[in-house]
Amino acid sequence: MSLDAVSAAELIAWYAEMGVTEALDETPHDHFAAAPEPARQPVARLVSAPQQAARRPVDAAAATAPDEAALSARALAREATTLDELKTALASFEGCPLKATAKNLVFSDGNPAGKIMVVGEAPGADEDRTGLPFVGRSGQLLDRMLAAIGLTRQEHVYIANLLPWRPPGNRTPTPQEVAICLPFIQRQIELADPDILICIGGPSAQGLLGVSGILASRGRWMEYDTGRRMIRAIATLHPAYLLRQPLQKRLAWRDLRAIKAALDAL
Ligand code: URA
Repeated sequence: MSLDAVSAAELIAWYAEMGVTEALDETPHDHFAAAPEPARQPVARLVSAPQQAARRPVDAAAATAPDEAALSARALAREATTLDELKTALASFEGCPLKATAKNLVFSDGNPAGKIMVVGEAPGADEDRTGLPFVGRSGQLLDRMLAAIGLTRQEHVYIANLLPWRPPGNRTPTPQEVAICLPFIQRQIELADPDILICIGGPSAQGLLGVSGILASRGRWMEYDTGRRMIRAIATLHPAYLLRQPLQKRLAWRDLRAIKAALDAL
């Protein structure tokens, strides 16, 4: 079919389905123009607030080499002694390129004093817009799943993501992006100090528990060292996957029942 034959609405619907849901720049790009000379790799460092204001965020992010960015992340995260300090530290961190394309930092929702902490993968479009994790369709399913075992995010559950910024077009985060952001979520878990950690989906399970293959690793109790103490941790299926594969909800239900039993035994 020629482009002329496709209506603008169909084209936009197709883009949305493919995950292209945001126009990131106000000016068009000439993708046929000659590529600029690659920039020399500058030394990674944290930028102070006045320097930040003077620089475009995308330049700052590109200027931070991944290894050094992960080191800076670790140092910054370690310095934070409360969740509020950690959020402020993340907001000032320029080491992750995702920050440049995201609209908002998505730090957490729910009750930080809850016994359960849920960690998802990364914000989607709705979360990016609102600055809160799990508020879109999969978030609504997550709320229903939690409600099925008598839990609410307002009272019992603290929610965050492996990555606090949305990857453009909801693509899977790269290993580098995960490595850079990992110290922050690890510190967030340590400071929230839950009794039970639930990793939602493969990237969260792999990043925090070191297991790969979510279908094989879900539903198994593991130990997680928060840095303060060992807690129980479990991986389960992501609600976005369950929306696509509703028959797999029976596996998620099994995991939820195991979580409820563990909670009752605390
Ligand atoms: N999926 C996630 O993993 N996290 C969110 O916050 C939303 C969707």
